[in-house]
Amino acid sequence: QKRIGILTSGGDCPGLNAVIRAVVSHATLTYDWEVIGIPYATQGLLEQKAIALSRHGLDLRGIDPLLSMGGTILGSINKGNTLEHADEIIASYQALALDALIAVGGDGSLSILNDLACRGNWQLVAVPKTIDNDVALTERSIGFDTAVNTITDALNRLTFTAASHDRVMIVEVMGRSTGHLALHAGIAGGADVILLPEIPYSIQGVCRTLAELRDRWAHKFAIVVVAEGAKTTNEVLSCDPALPSLTPQCGIGQYIAEQISRYSTMPIDTRVSVLGHIQRGGIPSALDRLVATTFGKAAVDLVAQGQLRQMVAWQNGRVVAVPLAEVLAHSPLPVDPNGYLVKTAQALGIYVGDVL
Ligand code: F6P
Repeated sequence: QKRIGILTSGGDCPGLNAVIRAVVSHATLTYDWEVIGIPYATQGLLEQKAIALSRHGLDLRGIDPLLSMGGTILGSINKGNTLEHADEIIASYQALALDALIAVGGDGSLSILNDLACRGNWQLVAVPKTIDNDVALTERSIGFDTAVNTITDALNRLTFTAASHDRVMIVEVMGRSTGHLALHAGIAGGADVILLPEIPYSIQGVCRTLAELRDRWAHKFAIVVVAEGAKTTNEVLSCDPALPSLTPQCGIGQYIAEQISRYSTMPIDTRVSVLGHIQRGGIPSALDRLVATTFGKAAVDLVAQGQLRQMVAWQNGRVVAVPLAEVLAHSPLPVDPNGYLVKTAQALGIYVGDVL
């Protein structure tokens, strides 16, 4: 008989509730364990908050509605004063009398929890989630597929209005340090330009692509997908006093629109859409539900096996366990500028920055 905790940490994403559901179901049905939900991650640990989770305790119909519910019923935080409260959190964990903790998080939160687990000698099992899909050693993180679908849907909608008005639509998507989301959704949504943090772009390259579309294919509209962390190669242009400086008020999408208007040799009508937190919301896709469910089940089994500080991971269509320390050493995982997806995009004439 064990008493295990589960928490969700970092930015939310679709599929978190599906993991909670799988953990509660498997732990209670197969092992007859007690499952304790810790609200708001380390904040809940610090305050010794505990919610007993049972198959029938959450809702009139048991926990099944969780499968399709976005967000996280446990709440989450993606910043906090964790380090200065480390000793108190470790003491609280002991007071909660947990035998193990299943933590669903991205690389930032998992790194903090790994430190705490090492210091407190906790049995920690990690489950990767992030719409950025940049946790190393796993091909999939929960939430990524749904976010790609959400962006792809937005690009489809924007393409019709772009075509109707001969406009260039600049679509800013999430991805502060990595561009997996922009690259996947850009290809799936038929973008003409995809700008990523990993591959610097030049405004000449963007304008050349737009001109070619017009001259060669008589395409007077285009879709430009830009990750929020994309960077320009051209320091001179980025210092141009005629352009606004890049600030949170003037995001990269607006900045690129200004650059296009200023440096294109033909008149171009641009519009900017910042998708923002729409990308983190919504009903999880079938694939995210599947990944979340298999991850949740596997995490419980790792606890049963007594595994210390492992992460469940998706590799070659299977769920495996990988050492959390190794994952953290290689995260966040960047887009490979010479990888097959970048090469595929280029082969289709999509401008993805100035790959050397
Ligand atoms: O979940 C990761 C992420 O989506 C980043 O791509 C983005 O920059 C960040 O979250 C924003 O999170 P928040 O607004 O919650 O701080």
